[in-house]
Amino acid sequence: MDKLMVRRGNPLHGEVSISGSKNAALPIMIASLLCEDVVTLENVPDIADTKNITRIMKTLDVDVEYLDEHTLRIDSRHMTNRCADCEEVRKMRASYYYLGALLGRFGSARVAFPGGCNFGVRPIDLHIKGFEALGAVVSTQSIIEMKADNLMGARIFLDFASVGATINIMLAAVKARGTTVIENAAKEPHVVDTASFLNSMGADVKGAGTDTIRIRGVRKMHGSSYAIIPDQIEAGTYMVAAAISEGEVTIRNLIPRHMESISAKLREAGVRIAQGGDWITVSGRDCRLRPTKVKTMPYPGFPTDMQPQMMALLSIIQGTSMVNESVFDDRFRYVEELKKMGAHIDVEGHIAIVEGVDRLVGTEVQATDLRAGAAMILAGLAAEGTTYITNVEYIDRGYESMVEHFRDLGADISRVSDDGPDLKLIKSVAV
Ligand code: EPZ
Repeated sequence: MDKLMVRRGNPLHGEVSISGSKNAALPIMIASLLCEDVVTLENVPDIADTKNITRIMKTLDVDVEYLDEHTLRIDSRHMTNRCADCEEVRKMRASYYYLGALLGRFGSARVAFPGGCNFGVRPIDLHIKGFEALGAVVSTQSIIEMKADNLMGARIFLDFASVGATINIMLAAVKARGTTVIENAAKEPHVVDTASFLNSMGADVKGAGTDTIRIRGVRKMHGSSYAIIPDQIEAGTYMVAAAISEGEVTIRNLIPRHMESISAKLREAGVRIAQGGDWITVSGRDCRLRPTKVKTMPYPGFPTDMQPQMMALLSIIQGTSMVNESVFDDRFRYVEELKKMGAHIDVEGHIAIVEGVDRLVGTEVQATDLRAGAAMILAGLAAEGTTYITNVEYIDRGYESMVEHFRDLGADISRVSDDGPDLKLIKSVAV
């Protein structure tokens, strides 16, 4: 299996350009099945998760091809509504979007239970509540099976502003009869991007980005050509990398408005940040970093997907910081890995108390999920000695060319294979 090898090197310096948003690309790729036409998607990130989604599509006789490494052509005119039940479905959380798309297109859906990063229970009860409100009969015996004679618009109140449930209900509602109103809807940039994409195919979705989304059902949708927004979390990860390495990095091809909560929190911790139309420059050089409090919230609050990365930074800031994970019930599993590196972090339920240390020390740690894997790299950038990170496949799922980007910024990072007595350097791999 591969590992990443990270050594504390010079402060990061230079520029990095952000790829398309993973959490927008995944629902948008699947939403394209609603139009029974041809869709071209640009700025699709070249990561394992998008590749997996195309593999699932092919099992449903969708004609999908890469026009280049970031452009997809999806032709669903001859798609069949068979059960979406392959290994890729069970590996990913985002495969649940096939439920909304198949129900919206065919009036029925059969999809295996989704997988996804393991941080506690991740039910889909809100998704199912939405589908039932639209008139679907849902069975969850071994797989998820749904059928609706007629999808009828409904008013749906989400107990939690769930990203997945908001998007999945939109997918099922765009061709329902009448109007659907989603109250307490999620407002993340990828929710808004998915709504914009649906409208580009002729849907009538209003209010995305607010608490209330109105979807007026349409009879027919048509093909579209659409570009995915930049990845807010990838950008935030490189922002923290600049801070933790005491370097200076310009992150290009982002939407500063999406970064506001991350920029505000880093400024609060003493990091210097400047920004322009589509770029942010982060400097951790000669900054007196300060301990701070972080509470993860649905957008526009501080994103839970940036929590592990921020924890890595806080673990080396003198003083006492606090992290409150209010979105997931168990997203601190990676903390044990940071403590192997010498971090002083006490976790009590949803709260982690961090006592900053002078130095972390490199050792072998595992990526317990996608964003935790990124956090281990950030910790390795600041640690004495060498940090080896296993379970690299988690990082492959959500970050394009990460090793290359960090090397271009001056990081001492390599991907090595430990399939033998000694580590062999793997030259060019897409992480
Ligand atoms: C999406 O997951 C993202 N994944 C996650 O990103 C992200 O952390 C999360 O949104 C929050 O922003 C994708 O977009 C593929 P939720 P999702 O539904 O849809 C509870 C990454 O690293 N809930 O907003 O699963 C749930 O348990 C990944 O890119 C229910 O109780 O998140 C959680 O506590 C990790 N019932 C909270 O809501 C439901 O039916 C938020 O979940 C659905 C969710």
